[in-house]
Amino acid sequence: MNQEKQLESGYNYRVVRQFTLVTILWGIVGMAVGVLIAAQLVWPSLNFDTPYLTYSRLRPLHTNAVIFAFGTSALFATSYYVVQRTCQTRLFGGKLAEFTFWGWQAVILSAAISLPLGYTTSKEYAELEWPIDIAIAIVWVSYAVVFFGTLVKRKTSHIYVANWFFGAFILTVAVLHIVNSMAIPVSGMKSYSIYSGAVDAMIQWWYGHNAVGFLLTAGFLGMMYYFVPKQAGRPVYSYRLSIVHFWALISLYIWAGPHHLHYTALPDWAQSLGMVMSIILFAPSWGGMINGIMTLSGAWHKLRYDPILRFLIVSLSFYGMSTFEGPMMAIKSVNALSHYTDWTIGHVHSGALGWVAMVSIGAVYHLVPKLFGQERMYSISLINTHFWLATVGVVLYIVAMWISGVMQGLMWSAVNADGTLQYSFVQSLQASYPFYFVRFVGGAIYLSGMLLMAYNAYKTIMAPKASLKAIEQVA
Ligand code: HEM
Ligand code: HEM
Repeated sequence: MNQEKQLESGYNYRVVRQFTLVTILWGIVGMAVGVLIAAQLVWPSLNFDTPYLTYSRLRPLHTNAVIFAFGTSALFATSYYVVQRTCQTRLFGGKLAEFTFWGWQAVILSAAISLPLGYTTSKEYAELEWPIDIAIAIVWVSYAVVFFGTLVKRKTSHIYVANWFFGAFILTVAVLHIVNSMAIPVSGMKSYSIYSGAVDAMIQWWYGHNAVGFLLTAGFLGMMYYFVPKQAGRPVYSYRLSIVHFWALISLYIWAGPHHLHYTALPDWAQSLGMVMSIILFAPSWGGMINGIMTLSGAWHKLRYDPILRFLIVSLSFYGMSTFEGPMMAIKSVNALSHYTDWTIGHVHSGALGWVAMVSIGAVYHLVPKLFGQERMYSISLINTHFWLATVGVVLYIVAMWISGVMQGLMWSAVNADGTLQYSFVQSLQASYPFYFVRFVGGAIYLSGMLLMAYNAYKTIMAPKASLKAIEQVA
């Protein structure tokens, strides 16, 4: 048995496999609910007059499913894989790692049941009620123990930069979740936040924005720092830049939350501070984007025939785009136009579908053959088709939302000579319908790509096992 093979048998791939498979499953479920609510905005009767299927209940189901079921499972899978391989040691706490898988699935199922039933704290991205919050805290602390325990027993002297990003994401999400979820229970499934008024809003958006900054950004940057160099077969473009932008990113993100509360009861200085920090945030964000894309120097030709690499590199382009757009939207005068409109939804999904989902899809395609002892995915041309479906889907989605958002912002602020509003809200809604339809089509196209991925993964897993030699080579 050669050294590589010995190492592989020493890794805990079981839990990585489990999380990888549920990433595909929850991606499909979460996006299917996204397509359903997109359809409800075009054809409201699709709520079938039942309370369980109303838009207000399904919308948080969508956000929870895509962020915490799909995105977070992808982060569990990749962080467990990357930390083992880069530390050249088996995952710490065998049974505890297994517990994080089953515990997290239990959290997801409780969300899938309690949200349609109408149980909610009404805090965005933190809607789940207190018993589920406690379960999340327990699973998350276990996750931290497994991850950091593995770092401690590493066989390498150096901690690879991807682990810095994963580590920051795990620690910060624990703190954010615990602080923001502080509440006084009044019954089995109802609680009230211990914060009130403007303080509650501030804590909520400190949480909300840093969920974006640490879960949807730092965690996925960790993923990027392992899978882009691996897939490109090139070292990270600048290791120094990766460290500099890591520290800059984590020290800036934490201040930017107030840009979600412009023109509210929050003190004006706090809003301005949030705005300035958001603008500065542009620099480290682009540092990461440029570092990822430039990792391809000398290997650009691979983009022509490797659709997995294309997923990874295009995800970085969307990351660059949304982190340019975000700082612009944080400027108060721009936010006066964009806030409450579909522009925000366009921004969210250029980050979510373009960056988060595409980098995860690239990582999953890279992982599946390795985890299931195959040389490569069953069909490369299906991956290519998936790439184009995803690209066309996300572009349709975000362009429709940008146009609709700017139009809404302009219509809402248009005034007649006598100072009265030129348009009623319903008129702006009527004008948005064509764009809602395009968004629905874009979402459905994106979802169809996910179904192709599930089929391709299934055929890869079921194919006769590659020879032992091949397994050793891909490990
Ligand atoms: C097929 C794919 C998807 C479709 C069709 C879709 C559709 C939607 C729709 C219709 C909304 C509600 C918009 C509104 O209230 O005006 C929404 C909200 C949201 N979606 Fe998606 N979505 C998809 C994928 C994703 C993914 C993959 C993520 C995250 C990784 C995501 C994250 C969000 C978030 C965070 C919101 C709330 C935005 C806000 O409150 O500003 N979505 N989505
Ligand atoms: C430098 C980076 C970024 C900055 C400064 C930024 C800034 C902003 C601003 C100003 C808003 C609008 C707030 C409002 O008017 O309510 C917003 C909303 C949002 N952004 Fe970003 N953004 C950045 C990157 C990203 C990325 C990469 C993602 C996703 C992966 C993302 C996800 C979101 C979400 C989910 C919301 C909607 C929150 C809500 O109201 O429910 N952002 N962002």
